[in-house]
Amino acid sequence: MSALFTPVQVGRYTLRNRMVMAPMTRSRADDAGVPAILSATYYAQRASAGLIISEGVFPTALGKGYVRTPGIETEAQVAAWQPITDAVHAQGGRIFLQLMHCGRISHPSMLPGGASPVAPSAVRPKGQIWTATGPQDMVTPHALSVAEIAQVVEDYRLAARRALTAGFDGVELHAASGYLPEQFLSSGSNQREDVYGGSVANRTRFVREVLAALVAEAGGDRVGLKISPEMHFNDIVEDHPQETYTYLVEQLPEFDLAYLHVALFGAQVDYHALLKPRFHGAYLVGGGLDQAQAEAALAGQRADAVVFGSAFLANPDLPERFRVGAALQAPDKDTFYTPGAKGYTDYPFLLVR
Ligand SMILES: Cc1cc2nc3c(=O)[nH]c(=O)nc-3n(C[C@H](O)[C@H](O)[C@H](O)COP(=O)(O)O)c2cc1C
Repeated sequence: MSALFTPVQVGRYTLRNRMVMAPMTRSRADDAGVPAILSATYYAQRASAGLIISEGVFPTALGKGYVRTPGIETEAQVAAWQPITDAVHAQGGRIFLQLMHCGRISHPSMLPGGASPVAPSAVRPKGQIWTATGPQDMVTPHALSVAEIAQVVEDYRLAARRALTAGFDGVELHAASGYLPEQFLSSGSNQREDVYGGSVANRTRFVREVLAALVAEAGGDRVGLKISPEMHFNDIVEDHPQETYTYLVEQLPEFDLAYLHVALFGAQVDYHALLKPRFHGAYLVGGGLDQAQAEAALAGQRADAVVFGSAFLANPDLPERFRVGAALQAPDKDTFYTPGAKGYTDYPFLLVR
């Protein structure tokens, strides 16, 4: 039997298989960040994954960066997540919530009181962001003070607490794709001269402080970390990615995390070879995998579990399709971020099951 279908220990959980659904923003929430009722169906349809990682969820309204994304801050948001986690659990699945604070990848039109987006330094990202009125240039962010950084860390901690209240099995810190944690890690966006900038120890400090806060709430065995070295998404410029990520991963034993999730997109270096031997929890590999590549990664012990994004989006019964060798449905990019059921809960299952 393919290793895809064997159980694996991830933190405190024994997953029934090694196929993980990647975190994917789907923009079906309302303007108050309350997830849609339909999301219970969407996630339950995909609950045959060993683990679902939710779409990116803002821990605080100041961390929102995209229209119709959900939060885990208000009582209404927490209450709306509960039937979603219940629906996944009713299918025997597991679901972690991804904490995504967008930092400078945002726009005042999406933030409370028209606030400026926040970042380690006042460095404006190149490019545009999709707002309620269409694409707009990104703005120069507000550089967080040390006291404000402490507040953001606290926001993450409280968000983790609320995620557990809402029934999630754990939380993943999104430290990839150019959002706030990666803005601290990267020399281009982090030009601070205090204890949060400069040396690799300082640039990784924010991520380490957030992890400590999440672990204090949930226990390390319910916390995961996602990184994507050299992804360069959202105008990330890194002078020393190998040094940064090696150092960061070498600091992780003290947190005793459930997993490290590394999604690579055209990196020049084999980060899996670099990072996996340095990490002691479950090592999750993602980024453009097909079934054969995933099986090879497991067989070669380059991964403990494998992460699929768009394939899970378009194939709710992906594990079953892999098992029987069925064709995969192609994802419809036009409905990735549009409201409603189309391209969300209407991808067919195999007819013969
Ligand atoms: C529609 C869509 C939304 C995504 N949103 C997120 C997100 O909210 N958080 C995140 O960490 N990655 C996000 N990603 C990236 C995926 O988690 C994953 O890393 C990526 O899709 C590569 O995996 P794949 O080639 O199997 O799709 C998104 C990807 C897609 C296709």
